[in-house]
Amino acid sequence: MTDRTARSPLTNSVFLDRWSPRSFSGTPVSAEQLDAMFEAARWTPSWMNNQPWIFAYDTDGPGREPILESFMEFNRGWASAAPVVGLVLAKTELADFMARTRDFDTGAAMMSLTLQATMLGLSVHVLGGVDLDAAYDATGADRETTEILCGFVIGHRGDIADLPEGLQEKEQPSDRKPTDEFVFKGGRVTG
Ligand SMILES: Cc1cc2nc3c(=O)[nH]c(=O)nc-3n(C[C@H](O)[C@H](O)[C@H](O)COP(=O)(O)O)c2cc1C
Repeated sequence: MTDRTARSPLTNSVFLDRWSPRSFSGTPVSAEQLDAMFEAARWTPSWMNNQPWIFAYDTDGPGREPILESFMEFNRGWASAAPVVGLVLAKTELADFMARTRDFDTGAAMMSLTLQATMLGLSVHVLGGVDLDAAYDATGADRETTEILCGFVIGHRGDIADLPEGLQEKEQPSDRKPTDEFVFKGGRVTG
């Protein structure tokens, strides 16, 4: 049984409410909800305020199928039920020292978007299982100046029964390591 209790009573419930489902209903995500999520991403901090993130997405337009096609097969099956499908990229043409954190900054933007989605009652599932060539084709992004990081889907949670049996048992929030495995007071990293 997964223990989903926050160890601190001060931790906001949004962090535990967020998890990555694979079952999505066909209920659309509204333009206002999408605006709110991308606006949340917009305010993410980044090194020298470089804002290297790029989100390419579609709902029911012509961009949807190429994006879905770029998802690896093990993701495409369940992901195709979600009303919003997308790819997250980072700009690579940054001065050396900022290039070092472009993925860090872009991941933070993805998390801002995800937490805003959670607060709107929506779910986001990020997926690294993406075919990079197909993702470049889908987005038309320049290989010289961008990198494809992940795919993502956004939507309302759906009926678990619609998932293939093998995925039904995985359809639940997961546990985490305790903080003492990754937090080191005093600054010396041990273990
Ligand atoms: C960078 C990244 C890549 C991921 N790739 C996949 C993927 O290809 N397929 C998938 O089903 N889930 C993928 N996930 C979801 C993780 O498996 C999930 O976040 C993790 O198991 C923790 O579960 P939770 O998000 O439900 O808390 C990915 C998550 C991240 C952050």
